[in-house]
Amino acid sequence: MKLKKTQVCIVGSGPSGLLLSQLLHNAGISSIIVDRQSRERIQARVRAGVLEWGSVDALDEAGVGRRMHRDGLPHDGFDLIFDDDLHRIDVKALTGKQVMVYGQTELTIELIARRLEQGCEIIFSAQDVQPIDVESDRPKVRYTKIGEMVEIECDYVAGCDGFHGAARQAIPSRVLKTFERIYPFGWLGVLVEQPPVSDELIYASHERGFALCSMRSQTRSRYYVQCPLSDTVEDWSDQRFWDELALRVGADVAGKLRTGDSIEKSIAPLRSFVAEPMRYGNLFLAGDAAHIVPPTGAKGLNLAISDIRILWRALIEHYKKANDTWLDRYSEICLKRVWKVERFSWFMSTMLHQFPEFSGFEKRMQRAEFDHIVGSETASRSLAENYVGLPLEM
Ligand code: APR
Ligand code: PHB
Repeated sequence: MKLKKTQVCIVGSGPSGLLLSQLLHNAGISSIIVDRQSRERIQARVRAGVLEWGSVDALDEAGVGRRMHRDGLPHDGFDLIFDDDLHRIDVKALTGKQVMVYGQTELTIELIARRLEQGCEIIFSAQDVQPIDVESDRPKVRYTKIGEMVEIECDYVAGCDGFHGAARQAIPSRVLKTFERIYPFGWLGVLVEQPPVSDELIYASHERGFALCSMRSQTRSRYYVQCPLSDTVEDWSDQRFWDELALRVGADVAGKLRTGDSIEKSIAPLRSFVAEPMRYGNLFLAGDAAHIVPPTGAKGLNLAISDIRILWRALIEHYKKANDTWLDRYSEICLKRVWKVERFSWFMSTMLHQFPEFSGFEKRMQRAEFDHIVGSETASRSLAENYVGLPLEM
């Protein structure tokens, strides 16, 4: 068996793990990242694309914002359409802030390149990754690579390995509480090399189901439609997708839609999930390993970034000032914010989708939510405030 040592061992090379590693490096703290996937697979995943301005600032502070500012698109607002009635949420006017439309895939590619350039060890394609001895003061991460077993000894393990990872499993079931809601539908997403239908995002609720018009650049668009969980991508030819999207966004938007051959097509389920606590011994969970939000509020990546900022601050206090107060409060501080963001994501999802179990009453409630937002600047501002990102109370 081979042994390695580092200060913080990070499980997972997604945005959470990579950003943490970058921030620690900037402060002179060492880390090693272990991921079960290959670099190619990680860099090929198409994920969400909206950054809160607090996330933009965090990436700038970490020194990884150059490409984001070059290629990202700052947005001042977005449209809500409910049964063909359109209401613009003027995020900038309501909150004074913008959001940045920038693909998580691009961010991940840049973070991996930067970490490797700076000499960080990232172990890709590791098998049987397992945090061990996390209750002790010498926790380890064990894995196998090309038939050889390796143990990385460290001060702390950061579990940044997503919803299906191994880190959360290392917390005994008598300690771990989980809260979950699975939605009875999925999102079928299509990426296409065509200019977006509008300069801003459009979230549409229609009796045929939810639809979202988003983008990755001025020439590349990302669209979604709500679909049954039993559907597969084979059920959805490009033509069927465009026809369905056109019906759901209404004639005005549909008239401007630039369709084409899809370059990526996938179906994702929608889930709300929270694990408590986010710390066990010297293991800290962050990002999707600890919580999942349905994508309707565009919060998954942003929530991961805020966990990492809180964890990073706590680790700095430990290493630079021998102060463990913030490590001790990590779970409590994160979860306060996590639940507020869960609430917003659940609210947006519930307002805008068709639920098979909803009766006439719930459908009228959905419409009333929309009408309330349209008619009340206070309600619009509340929505906008959540969309641009709640303050990070650190
Ligand atoms: N061992 C090692 N690595 C693992 C394991 C495991 N058992 N399981 C998963 N991983 C890796 C995955 O291959 C992936 O690269 O952990 C990484 C987790 O990355 P993400 O799923 O992107 O999670 P996170 O970094 O927290 O980013 C959150 O991702 O899902 C989106 O909406 C979410 O945007 C948010 C962001
Ligand atoms: C995306 O562009 O992929 C996207 C944008 C906004 C969302 C979800 C996904 O709410």
